Amino acid sequence: MKRAVAEAPAKAIVTGEHFVVDGSWALAVALPRKVRAEVTEADELRVDSEAGGGSGSPRPGPVLEVVRAMSSEFSFAPSFRVSIRSQVPAGSGLGSSAATSVAVAAAVARYNSVDLGASELARMSMVGEKRVHRTPSGVDSAVCAAGGAVLFRRGAEPRTVHLPGARSLVIAFSGQRRATRRQISKVSRLRDAFPHMFEGLAAAVGAMSLEASERLASGDMETLGRILNLNHAVLSSIGVSNQRLDSMVDASLSMGAFGAKLTGAGGGGCILVAAPEGKEKSIVSGLRGRGFEAFLAEIPVEGVKSWLES
Ligand code: PMV
Repeated sequence: MKRAVAEAPAKAIVTGEHFVVDGSWALAVALPRKVRAEVTEADELRVDSEAGGGSGSPRPGPVLEVVRAMSSEFSFAPSFRVSIRSQVPAGSGLGSSAATSVAVAAAVARYNSVDLGASELARMSMVGEKRVHRTPSGVDSAVCAAGGAVLFRRGAEPRTVHLPGARSLVIAFSGQRRATRRQISKVSRLRDAFPHMFEGLAAAVGAMSLEASERLASGDMETLGRILNLNHAVLSSIGVSNQRLDSMVDASLSMGAFGAKLTGAGGGGCILVAAPEGKEKSIVSGLRGRGFEAFLAEIPVEGVKSWLES
């Protein structure tokens, strides 16, 4: 039986979330957690999704929309079964929905012999992302498709940030799942109330992303950490952090991290930490000791890939 398989990585936004929706630069990296999609023969379209390790299964609705959009654009019948298995906790800011729709788009394209590159797969994934949170910037889809580290600005071609060596980042989950859509509307209400102030913050955050990309590339984790702290302060000021995220950031700093911030839409989800070389593992253990799920992410991680099995 013909089987097409694809795997796409999770992601973390290093700097620039929320402001990227309005056109600021964001820096994002692919993470070593995957969503796997398989497409096999069936009489009609079926989507089954399963979460690995209790991480919350991806929702089938956005996936169905991606498949239908591809079937009409590339003229194939949407009659196959799509099975999804995710290692990415849903609603945690690690790009579960984007990784899912990128993996599905890649497996569906492979199954139907449609040759699509990373930017086309990201474009197809956006059909699902729009369903999930209406006005996605596209940064999640871009990095889950391309992998590595990506500097992203709405409407421009994503720029690959070349990392000459491996880098380690710590990721920790607050245990609080939340809806990106609600966080985005909270921020847009603030932007509408204070447009000029918001513009100033957006320019500052854009500059942070450009600087952060250079520091990540050169391995200057200390300065990267300082930028993370600044970016966290801005995100707190616009109301997307909360007590738990702030206490996780403080705990990381007290354990010797260079810097830490919430990552993704906030209001729960995850934090991202930059630490001195050799200290990352003790920060992971320290955060676990405080009851948070934490892991060390070695980057760069490759983007989506797909293949056929028989
Ligand atoms: O859904 P999350 O937590 O990965 O956040 C996405 C990042 C935002 O900047 C808040 C939204 C977007 O579309 O860029």
